[in-house]
Amino acid sequence: MAERFDHFMARANTAYYAAHNPFADFVTAPELTQVFGELLGGWARVVWQMLGAPPEIILAEAGPGRGVLMADILRVFGPAPVHFIETSPRLRIEQKRRVPQAVWHDSLATVADGPLILLANEFLDALPVRQFVRRASGWMERYVTAGEYLEQPAELDLPDHAEGSVLEINESANAFIKQLARRGAVGLFIDYGPLASAPGESVQAIRADKYADPLEAPGLADITAHVDFAALAQTARTAGAQVWGPLKQHTFLTALGLHQRTDQLARSTPQAGERLRLAARRLTAPEAMGSLFKAMAICPKGLPPMPGFELP
Ligand SMILES: C[S@@+](CC[C@H](N)C(=O)[O-])C[C@H]1O[C@@H](n2cnc3c(N)ncnc32)[C@H](O)[C@@H]1O
Repeated sequence: MAERFDHFMARANTAYYAAHNPFADFVTAPELTQVFGELLGGWARVVWQMLGAPPEIILAEAGPGRGVLMADILRVFGPAPVHFIETSPRLRIEQKRRVPQAVWHDSLATVADGPLILLANEFLDALPVRQFVRRASGWMERYVTAGEYLEQPAELDLPDHAEGSVLEINESANAFIKQLARRGAVGLFIDYGPLASAPGESVQAIRADKYADPLEAPGLADITAHVDFAALAQTARTAGAQVWGPLKQHTFLTALGLHQRTDQLARSTPQAGERLRLAARRLTAPEAMGSLFKAMAICPKGLPPMPGFELP
């Protein structure tokens, strides 16, 4: 039976993250350099002060990978209750090794009430997208059957675009942002995607550091889609939040002091200096992760700009 593309992607990614070490297939910012997490730890600490330093603050992370990012964050932030939103049992074991005090959740819905700062790096891109293709007869939605795409008439009202255009809609990411905004939390999202919404197909699969056909081997490759930050910002505003960014990762990390902290660390640990400087360059170079990756924050209305987003 044909399966809607987002359902296929969700099933494939759940199987992939349950059975694989994703970091054998690709590398993420916190895996490249401890400075990334340390900067986010400083970011969260300043935000906590902006919130009035509530003693009952909760730090949360969505899609925490091996727990490396949160371990680096906590070194700077200091002790705090940690909640992880993670569906992979295999990665939960890794996370427990690095952040043993964490509490795990399948979704945001069960994270305890109270002041919350949530961070997520390369989480939204793993959430499933619906895909629509504009044909002469109107919009069609993509389904998957026996390793092939199949199209059926779309049941959503979509804006008009030229024939052949592809639209991707990430209902899970929008629902996540809406829920976070409604509970008055602060959220910081770092991920890859354009500054403005535009039609186009961005779904890709990575297997062993190489591009693969997303339909070929479900569960053996990581399937992702670009994050539509403008759509998520709109969702957050409609749900009552204030939005900062999206900004290019280069701008955001530079404003937080990536190069200064890297230099400081490189001086105190010269044997790691070259690796740390290369990592900083990779995170900020436009041809690497500096331009495609963006940072966006949401927070309750009335707060001043979040750290790193105070643009002239
Ligand atoms: C690309 S990894 C990023 C890991 C980490 N944030 C980092 O930067 O290294 C994606 C993470 O999201 C988790 N994940 C994927 N889909 C999820 C979902 N629907 N709910 C919760 N976690 C999910 C994966 O298990 C993994 O921990």
